[in-house]
Amino acid sequence: MTYVRACALADVPLGTVATFDLGGEIDIAVVNTADGVFAIQDLCSHAEYPLSEGDVDGCTLECIGHGSRFDLRTGFPLELPATVPVPVYPVRVDGDDIFIDPDNPKKAQEHNNE
Ligand code: FES
Repeated sequence: MTYVRACALADVPLGTVATFDLGGEIDIAVVNTADGVFAIQDLCSHAEYPLSEGDVDGCTLECIGHGSRFDLRTGFPLELPATVPVPVYPVRVDGDDIFIDPDNPKKAQEHNNE
């Protein structure tokens, strides 16, 4: 695993989401929740709206496109119309900085078995 620094913790206040270019084809949205910091692909699996423009609610992020909520721990959509998971990424908070491993998205199936 190769973690890269995404941002400072202060760049993503509690209850908010921000997007960062970590060198991949698609930016990664970093979400700061009361349950921890999460990273999710910044592109909805339904109709390609940026998830970083959505609302944070607990451990979920609601797409502004058509209202699907995604579980930030697994990337699974919890509501229609989206039916396909969005990749989520390992996150490490080290001091005041947030690091993400953009090359190793977690596999949705792994989370189903937890
Ligand atoms: S684009 Fe996200 S729910 Fe439709």
